[in-house]
Amino acid sequence: MSESSILITGGAGYIGSHTARQLGAAGRRIVTLDNLSTGFREAVLYGDLIEGDTGDPELVSQLLHDYQVDTVLHFAAHTIVPESVEKPLKYYRNNTCNTRNLLECCAEAGVRHFVFSSTAAVYGIPEGDAICAEDSPTAPINPYGASKLMSEQMIRDLDKASDMRHVILRYFNVAGSDPEGRIGQSTKQATLLIKVAAEAAVGKRDTLYIFGTDFPTPDGTGVRDYIHVEDLATAHVDALRYLENGGESTTLNVGYGHGYSVREVLETVQKVHGAPLNIVERERRAGDPPSLVASAERIRETLGWKPRYDDLEAIAAHSIAWERKLMASPWGE
Ligand code: UD1
Repeated sequence: MSESSILITGGAGYIGSHTARQLGAAGRRIVTLDNLSTGFREAVLYGDLIEGDTGDPELVSQLLHDYQVDTVLHFAAHTIVPESVEKPLKYYRNNTCNTRNLLECCAEAGVRHFVFSSTAAVYGIPEGDAICAEDSPTAPINPYGASKLMSEQMIRDLDKASDMRHVILRYFNVAGSDPEGRIGQSTKQATLLIKVAAEAAVGKRDTLYIFGTDFPTPDGTGVRDYIHVEDLATAHVDALRYLENGGESTTLNVGYGHGYSVREVLETVQKVHGAPLNIVERERRAGDPPSLVASAERIRETLGWKPRYDDLEAIAAHSIAWERKLMASPWGE
């Protein structure tokens, strides 16, 4: 192999696969590392899939060498906030320890560019108007956010001690699917609001729950900045181009800069679906902050990122369409 490759960890997962598809379609040489614990073979449309773990130093070093990797996009992680409260060590192992291992292998192999999937959960409960800017204080209120914040710190420290440059992307709430229906979120036992609402719309679930109606928000339900997965994937492609053009290491929010409450989301899903869903109110979930909305200017200024799907109805429509497709031909079976 003469040409260098981009390693995509977690490339068989939801966000990783959408990013890999965009890079593959643009003719980039990619290789996916995924242990398929939550990912799917069907999601890998371009390049080789290496089945394995980011915590396996021999495998990772061999892969970096064999594929002449000079850029890593690191998606592989556990991501469910309430689960992280119940099983913190699972999160610190897979998200923090395995990122440390991956970074060590990258440093030894001389990887030049690293793009990291971080999260709005690093902000915890934002003060004041609840808009999170990249330089807002970080104070995670759940182990998931803490596991990612520790990884951010390691990346910044390694950056100072080496030639590796990075972009840390702090995702807000990802939703939707490939608008052309080739891939989509296929997680079993899904927990994400729009995903479970789409499952209810196609009849996979009888009931939808609103977790908490007593938050200090306008209608009492949680507020989030929902971003279409295709725009999030594009942010990675833009981050890569930025680093390749000599951009400085940086940390960027990826969100649209406005939030919707759980009630607003469910109203939109019902409107798009064209029928009411069975909705039941419940107590709050462990680890859920009241509101997380991005200050979203820096990414546009730094990367020239131009989102195309800032439209909750489109997000809902793509989610429902994907759910229908998945019903007809399920993944992983
Ligand atoms: C999601 C991400 C998390 C990320 C965070 C950033 C996943 C699995 N989770 O978490 O990694 O850090 O965004 O903001 O990718 N809700 C209901 N009923 C439901 C499901 C959710 O009322 O059935 C509510 C929640 O209480 C919350 C909102 O909807 O207020 C969004 O929840 P969810 O879609 O699960 O995402 P986050 O927990 O915000």
